[in-house]
Amino acid sequence: MRLFTIALLAVSAIIAINACDDDDKPCSNCPNNDLISGEYNPQPYNLAVPSFFPPPIIPADNPLTVEGVELGRRLFYDKILSADGTMSCATCHLPEKSFTDGNAVSTGILGIAGRRSSMAIVNLAYNAKGFFWDGRAATLEEQALLPVEDHIELNESWPNVIEKIRNHADYPLRFRKAFGIDRKSEITKELAVKAIAQFERTFISADSKYDKVVWKNEGWFTDQEERGKMLFSSKNRKL
Ligand code: HEC
Repeated sequence: MRLFTIALLAVSAIIAINACDDDDKPCSNCPNNDLISGEYNPQPYNLAVPSFFPPPIIPADNPLTVEGVELGRRLFYDKILSADGTMSCATCHLPEKSFTDGNAVSTGILGIAGRRSSMAIVNLAYNAKGFFWDGRAATLEEQALLPVEDHIELNESWPNVIEKIRNHADYPLRFRKAFGIDRKSEITKELAVKAIAQFERTFISADSKYDKVVWKNEGWFTDQEERGKMLFSSKNRKL
């Protein structure tokens, strides 16, 4: 009887070691749980660039693909990038406000006001002079790493975000489709920001009155607009 109990305990211990729970905890004993199966056949994304624009700056190691842009779009709007699940990139960069938040300075998840105003993230693929108001991020990929861990923005850590993405029902397959990885453990912050940067490079604004008058020679500024343009471009504050 005692032998039987020991045998039973041993069997259940083996079952416990091999158990692959399908819940959202990472399963370190189960290598197969790490595999992502699905097709990898990325399609080039056709960026419709207005004829009067310079060629977009696309890094050789991050070409635009339909799958990458779509993944980036989802990440940009996803609140899992913040510590308490209340904010995404889009909270401060709203499409209906030219991708700003319309406030003088932006406020992050802790309710602390930042020092600067959110920027209109349009035509970024044509900017070679650095990102942020002071140009401190050289590339869009580098820029996208920062808001997640900024305490007065999303106040999350990248290891946490990556853990949430690896355990997500939908993201692992999307990372495979965009970047050809075979395992959830190959999902990294570098790939996440590549996807976000791809999405951001598709934002083109080329049909404002300014664009029409300056680039397309369509119509004229009013006298007041002309004065405003001169004032805006002038280094002489006394104008
Ligand atoms: C709490 C509000 C807030 C959140 C959330 C936020 N941003 Fe920003 N964003 C800002 C502010 C403010 C600036 C300007 C900061 C500076 O210059 O120091 C900025 C600047 C930028 C720029 C630079 C644009 C340019 O023309 O140089 C990009 C790109 C950008 N954000 C993308 C993102 C992405 C991607 C995310 C999500 C991962 C994000 N932002 C999340 C407020 C926010």
